[in-house]
Amino acid sequence: MKSVIAATSLLLLAISSSLQAADLKAAEALAGEQCAACHGPTGVSQNPEWPIIAGQHADYLARTLRQYRSGEREDPLMQGIAAGLSDEDIRNLSAWYARQDGLKTKQY
Ligand code: HEC
Repeated sequence: MKSVIAATSLLLLAISSSLQAADLKAAEALAGEQCAACHGPTGVSQNPEWPIIAGQHADYLARTLRQYRSGEREDPLMQGIAAGLSDEDIRNLSAWYARQDGLKTKQY
């Protein structure tokens, strides 16, 4: 019985931490320090070498960053950068970039 209670509380803890609100302020600071040089200040890169990541779905961004971190997706630049990101950093950055305006608001 004790182990069922322990397992249940672990599960609840895992669920509640995954539902935790993203820290957008921390993400903005981290993005400015580590991502803006290539992806632009709000994720709209001006250089065709670097993808536009603003306005992308948060789940996609998070999965992609985890894939770079694990080496499942290969890129010499992004693997090195993602290696230094914690799960929390990834959650925060993904939520923040998803909230930025991508090209959908840009007029051509
Ligand atoms: C030195 C330049 C550079 C920096 C700094 C950089 N990136 Fe990237 N990023 C790239 C390049 C180049 C690619 C395309 C790699 C590929 O082809 O997989 C990329 C791809 C990505 C992708 C995948 C986009 C897609 O559509 O699949 C994400 C997400 C991403 N970067 C997020 C970040 C985040 C978050 C940071 C900061 C923590 C960051 N990048 C910092 C150059 C950079």
